[in-house]
Amino acid sequence: MTFVLRGPLIRFDGNPFADGRLIHEPDAGVAIRDGMIADLGPFDQIAPRYPDAEKRVAQGLIAPGFVDAHVHYPQIGVIASWGADLIDWLNTYTFPEEARFSDRAYAEAAARAYFDEQLRNGVTCAASFCTIHPASVDAYFAEAERRGLRAVGGKVMMDRNAPDNLCDTAEAAYADTKALIERWHGQARLTYAITPRFAPTSTREQLDAAGALAHEHPDCRIQTHLSEQHREIAWVAGLFPDAGDYLHVYEQSGLVRPGAIFGHAIHLTDRERAALAEKGGAIAHCPTSNQFLGSGECDVRGLIGQGVAVGLATDTGGGTSYSMFDTMKAAYEVGARRGDILTPEQLWWLATGGAAAALGLQTHIGNLALGMDADLIVIDPGATPLLAQRTGRADNIAEILFALIVLADDRAISAVYSGGQAVLP
Ligand code: GUN
Ligand code: ZN
Repeated sequence: MTFVLRGPLIRFDGNPFADGRLIHEPDAGVAIRDGMIADLGPFDQIAPRYPDAEKRVAQGLIAPGFVDAHVHYPQIGVIASWGADLIDWLNTYTFPEEARFSDRAYAEAAARAYFDEQLRNGVTCAASFCTIHPASVDAYFAEAERRGLRAVGGKVMMDRNAPDNLCDTAEAAYADTKALIERWHGQARLTYAITPRFAPTSTREQLDAAGALAHEHPDCRIQTHLSEQHREIAWVAGLFPDAGDYLHVYEQSGLVRPGAIFGHAIHLTDRERAALAEKGGAIAHCPTSNQFLGSGECDVRGLIGQGVAVGLATDTGGGTSYSMFDTMKAAYEVGARRGDILTPEQLWWLATGGAAAALGLQTHIGNLALGMDADLIVIDPGATPLLAQRTGRADNIAEILFALIVLADDRAISAVYSGGQAVLP
């Protein structure tokens, strides 16, 4: 079935950190067939090509669905929890909560709640950590598949420095991950990410097992954390005295390559930055989490300038919001504090095309173009009185986008299409 969605639309003709521009079509038509974008352009030109197709009028601005490059779905229950720092927060709230995911029904309920929240905020694809329990991965992917979503995820691997009931072993993590890859990777629109949590919670044997899996499954993604806080970095140096720096711990096990996504990456050395660029690792920038946990400020523009793919991410529950509006706003504030202002177009790109590129999915999602997944959202620029009065006096699309970044929340997401299906409302 083909239908044509009509309305004002935004898309990118390239990356606005280089010479790409945001394109605003005041009256566009998007022809959607078999879950994909079959045609796109001014409505006057598109409509006559599909005389029999249903025409739907969008109640707002048509935009690419948001992409969240790094999130922990099992942490929905501990979002907004107090912690002295990252390690304290993990031990006090996160690990006890993740332990509950040995119960499949608990994991299923959390996955449902999580995807409800994700879609309410217009996020059509995310890369999520699960827990060490294979059932947590089954719950996540089964729920994504049931809703027809594109999703990336994987079982956390941890074999030390975590509670006993949250530790596996190098061998068990290898075997469980292998079985999960066979069950889920490439099914529907699902992509498996090999997921050693971070260097402190894996032995060298386990990181090598993750590296072996990465070698055996070159089209799987890899996701982990990197250089989030100083205390963590010092801990890694003590645990891996043979490594020159934090990233080197991962390089030694073959975990830095295209398709590897590193969360945070704040306190990098020049060598680490150069190695990421050379080897093709991507960064998930998590500004609400970094502000909340006091982690520091990622050098987004500098990394992109060196050729590293950077995408925006919520990192909830360390992050404080599922909203990419809040996340873009935090990225703006982090940039402002660094004396490095990101433009509305650049912020929007980080939450769409940039995050898609970080996940190696840029040919499918993160933009609106022929042959891409019909994963798109409709945004109401008048969703609240405050927003309406500000967008109502905007002189151009960049002003509207910036007002949305600063003032909008889930009330501004008026519709969500995933694979061409209306999944919200
Ligand atoms: N580092 C290792 N695990 C985590 C986590 O769950 N959240 C954050 N923010 N950092 C981590
Ligand atoms: Zn994280």
